[in-house]
Amino acid sequence: MRLLEVSDLEAGYGDVQVLRSVSLHVEEGEIVAIFGSNGSGKSTFLKVLIGTLKPWGGTVKFMERHVEDLPPEERVKLGIALAAEGRKLFLGMTVEENLLLGAWVKKEKAKENLERVYSYFPELYEKRRELAGDLSGGQQQMLSIGRALMSEPKLLMIDELSLGLAPAVVDRLANILTRIREEEGISMLIVEQEVSLALDISDRAYVFDLGEVVDEGRSEDLLRRDSIRKTYLSVL
Ligand SMILES: Nc1ncnc2c1ncn2[C@@H]1O[C@H](COP(=O)(O)OP(=O)(O)OP(=O)(O)O)[C@@H](O)[C@H]1O
Ligand SMILES: [Mg+2]
Repeated sequence: MRLLEVSDLEAGYGDVQVLRSVSLHVEEGEIVAIFGSNGSGKSTFLKVLIGTLKPWGGTVKFMERHVEDLPPEERVKLGIALAAEGRKLFLGMTVEENLLLGAWVKKEKAKENLERVYSYFPELYEKRRELAGDLSGGQQQMLSIGRALMSEPKLLMIDELSLGLAPAVVDRLANILTRIREEEGISMLIVEQEVSLALDISDRAYVFDLGEVVDEGRSEDLLRRDSIRKTYLSVL
């Protein structure tokens, strides 16, 4: 089934248009990556999908239902979750308190979901009583993803997966995400600056430039495409 279907999306801030006729879809169980230069509208696109920014035009369908007019809470209830850019954690609260904030839609299953998140990220269990602000960057990213998982999403969106993290941490995160998809069939939409990582981790990818989709395809095909290699992988 087509889990997410976005058609001809237009959006911006004030009277400045950012997204221009963006169409994109995610199938059930798929990992889809978005990459593109700074300011190309990737975060803006995720904001429209989670509902914190209203689109000017176009449609967003989730599980065949129009969601453009739903507030973010309703979208989370339907199964969309966002681990936002900058991670947006409550740094003065503990790790476990941050995770429980993500559980508001599934209160009755909070304990079960805590255990599930801790099984993917054992270091969060070890640090569960420490302040989020005392975690390393990698652990904060795990916490941000873990908090998103607490609502049992069908579509997990992550903005800037690897930003500021050491390569070994990024490898681990990528492995864990692959495992989560295998074990639970959760679909993912991942915004990632590091193009080789974006293409490694995903089944398909979209390239954004100046608010438009300028290329798309299966990730293995994009990896071999000369234009992509020259522009984004610095291969001559
Ligand atoms: N809250 C805002 N108000 C006004 N303009 C904004 C706002 N947020 C983003 N923009 C502008 O919208 C455009 C797209 O920004 P966006 O953050 O979506 O890009 P991005 O692809 O996520 O970039 P990056 O790779 O730097 O994260 C940019 O020109 C940016 O300056
Ligand atoms: Mg961004």
